[in-house]
Amino acid sequence: MQKKMYINGEWVSTASYTELKSPYTKETIAQIPQAAKEDIAAAVDAAENAQQAMANLTALERANILYSIAEAFVVKRLEAATIISQESSKPLKYALGEIDRTIETYRFAGDEAKRLVGEMIPMDAAKTGQNRFAYTLEQPLGIIAAITPFNFPQNLVAHKVGPAIAAGNTIVLKPASQTPLSALFLAEIIEQTVLPKGAFNVVLGSGGVVGDTLVENEKVKMITFTGSPAVGIRIKAKAGLKRVALELGSNSGLVVDQGVNIPHVVNKCVTGAFSNQGQVCISLQRIYVVEDVFETFVAEMVEKTKDLYIGSPLEETTDISAMIHEKEQQRALHWINEAVAEGATLLYGGTVKDGVLLPTILANVNPSSKVSCEEVFAPIVSINKISSIEEGIEAINDSDYGLQAGIFTKDIATAFAASKQLEVGGVVINDIPTYRVDQMPYGGVKQSGTGKEGVKYAIHEMTETKLVIWNQEGGL
Ligand code: SIN
Repeated sequence: MQKKMYINGEWVSTASYTELKSPYTKETIAQIPQAAKEDIAAAVDAAENAQQAMANLTALERANILYSIAEAFVVKRLEAATIISQESSKPLKYALGEIDRTIETYRFAGDEAKRLVGEMIPMDAAKTGQNRFAYTLEQPLGIIAAITPFNFPQNLVAHKVGPAIAAGNTIVLKPASQTPLSALFLAEIIEQTVLPKGAFNVVLGSGGVVGDTLVENEKVKMITFTGSPAVGIRIKAKAGLKRVALELGSNSGLVVDQGVNIPHVVNKCVTGAFSNQGQVCISLQRIYVVEDVFETFVAEMVEKTKDLYIGSPLEETTDISAMIHEKEQQRALHWINEAVAEGATLLYGGTVKDGVLLPTILANVNPSSKVSCEEVFAPIVSINKISSIEEGIEAINDSDYGLQAGIFTKDIATAFAASKQLEVGGVVINDIPTYRVDQMPYGGVKQSGTGKEGVKYAIHEMTETKLVIWNQEGGL
């Protein structure tokens, strides 16, 4: 079925189309328009023209629009999740979980729209500040270009669209090439709200063409991007004075101390390493286990992983399905083989069955093997033995990335020390680094990005702080 883009509140065709195929069945799902430069310019112009109408909305009106988007997802939960599963091969149970989070994200954005506050400035704390009264206003930046990834095609879009609307901005969304249908589904929902025409636009096509054109457009005031470090770094280099928020990759690590409940920890680790085929920025990629419990942990991890059900993303019981592209699967296989050649032991997986890369467990992995030091973005986890907690923390920190990290320990002093020493944006005590809820600050250090998401924090990135000073001295 031939799809259209959503520009200025209208459904528009264009000259060129590509086929969107299911990553699992490889069948064609839809014909997707590829925006020409004029389409992108039209979307940006529509967003520019809608700015005054957005500025005229009250905080309550913006909040109610966001709540109505959330309620539409409540009603269409299964439909929205099925689209995610069809276009990205995310197993349905995880896609349903994503829609539940999407609903919360839009609700949080509605709440935050109503408490977008500035602050009073104590002017008389300065010698020349007497009789002055000052406060700040958080004003919308203008047009936000959102460039979003395939792995959470509704919720990571919500993390950009929700805060942008809450702050009174207008948006041009460029979703990942593999997941345009979720973005168009959102446009259908937004079309039914009272959001001003042109305030939300969807343009489709490749990152190289559409993304670059948006980054270069002078009317766009901010780029908010989630994706690979290589693309993020390129965007930042091209963005000039535009504001840029980058949520990039990671090779998240976890330390497991002695004395913890191993079956409980292993259950969490299996989910953290393999959900959505490991294609999650905070997927659990490296586990460091103290030697006393290493053998037990590894044996349990292999047993639990064997229980995962591999199959169609649309089956309710499926745990693992196809990766997003054949070439990504080939890369992952190549990295596994390379790690084994570099000394790792393959404990489970490492092969493809019915088009699906089996969840793969490696032990004793060389830290310079790509499965350890690069972002693997595949269902692959490494487990290494450590002789102390400090060794585990050092291994996690020995990385170009720093998004989230975790530690399981019963020792409070160890947990406090780890929370100080881990060089990441978020430390998770007694859970996996893959843990996230949508109102918490989320964002990394090093090559994991700049700026924070989590609705309130993203809103802050998307507003301009304006100062207003009143001189009360009179003399007029
Ligand atoms: C991500 O992959 O960047 C987001 C992970 C999440 O929201 O759970």
